[in-house]
Amino acid sequence: MIQVHPNLQEVEQASALQRRLYRTIRETMRAMAGRITGVSNWEAKKLLARHIWLDAEHAEAIRTRVLELRFPRVDVDLEVDKALISVLAKLPSTLTDAEFLGGVYQVIKPAVLAALERYLGQSDPLDDAPSHRVLRTAVTELREELAEFDAWWAAVPAIERDAAAAWLGWLREALENSGSVFGCDSGLVLLDRAGLSDREKYIIPAMPLRDPRWLPAVTQVPPRPPRTPQEQQVWIAIDHVNELWACELPAAFIWHYENMPWSLYRDTARWAYDEMRHAMMGERRLLAYGFDVGVDVPMVPDHWMGICATRGLEAMLFVVHGLEQGGPKWKAQLKSELWAMGDPYSSQDCDYDWADEAGHIRYGQDWLKLLFPAMPKAEIIRRTQEEVALWKEWIADKHRTGQHGYDGFLARIEEKCANMPALPNPEHFQPLGSSAATTSYGLNG
Ligand SMILES: [Fe+2]
Ligand SMILES: [Fe+2]
Repeated sequence: MIQVHPNLQEVEQASALQRRLYRTIRETMRAMAGRITGVSNWEAKKLLARHIWLDAEHAEAIRTRVLELRFPRVDVDLEVDKALISVLAKLPSTLTDAEFLGGVYQVIKPAVLAALERYLGQSDPLDDAPSHRVLRTAVTELREELAEFDAWWAAVPAIERDAAAAWLGWLREALENSGSVFGCDSGLVLLDRAGLSDREKYIIPAMPLRDPRWLPAVTQVPPRPPRTPQEQQVWIAIDHVNELWACELPAAFIWHYENMPWSLYRDTARWAYDEMRHAMMGERRLLAYGFDVGVDVPMVPDHWMGICATRGLEAMLFVVHGLEQGGPKWKAQLKSELWAMGDPYSSQDCDYDWADEAGHIRYGQDWLKLLFPAMPKAEIIRRTQEEVALWKEWIADKHRTGQHGYDGFLARIEEKCANMPALPNPEHFQPLGSSAATTSYGLNG
């Protein structure tokens, strides 16, 4: 039945409410992105990487809608949401994975969901139809996120969940005190309860955390090239799953660099999620071959170890940008080699990975332009080559001197590879030297 009278909500109010929603989703997304390096649990990293992409898409759609409405000030006038933003800036200042994910998924996101639903309930589906379409999508995907979080949370030991309770309580109170997501900013300062509001601002660690279940290693790049088709399948999967490093890097930029243009944050969230997809492609192949990730094959942030630890995040931007420029050629070659050998699964993974790379090269260029606006192109090229050369030398040195930490892994990998089924066309395997593939492990993003 047609509703004769519209729900009443003025454009001015619609715009103000959605602007606050946009800011909440955006700043929560930035906190989640930054904390990907700072959580250790592998499942949590995967969950966060996918959700920052979804959240960035929601924020983008809501922001676009706000700009359509009569309030073209979505990216300025931060004063109006000051209290809320100061609470969200505290989100990653947590001591454990449970505190961080609990805060985001049990305090902030439920408040966002309630705000979205309230908006849909009180605004008019005809007059404000474009908002309804955007917000309904956000509701559906946010429910999915919360269900995924619930499954993760259920696996967290009770002692860790209990230990997070004080932080969640503080956050709930602080959010409430700020005026919450749906409404006007209170302008009030953070509540100080048990010193929780004094926690230091989160900074990106020089070395991302790794799952405590994983065994230690130094390089994820095997110390020798593959000798058989099965080894090549496994070497590629190890390379893929370790693209976790390349997810953590752009995600770290989103947090580390404040007040960047929104479009860059949005693209970078997609970049980070793409790299996590590449990592998950590797994980899926390894599982199919009977390998336990992090136990049978190393999962280590060797790029961070070799670059960030001594030369910082900026140096890593040059390295990732340099490596990604070579990525499409390598992945295209792998796609056809793997297909010819009779491995359509790895071939397809490389095909889709390669499809993402054009975007990544552009995002890298955007960051370089923004962070080094005065640097001439020739200098960017020189610095990129220099940083990539230093990275290659770091890996080569670890392999040459036997400091790769692979001793515990290699024999087990060789044994498992020897038991893998033969490929239909092994003659298409390219032994060392005849293919770029055999020399590019660790050299892509
Ligand atoms: Fe990439
Ligand atoms: Fe990648």
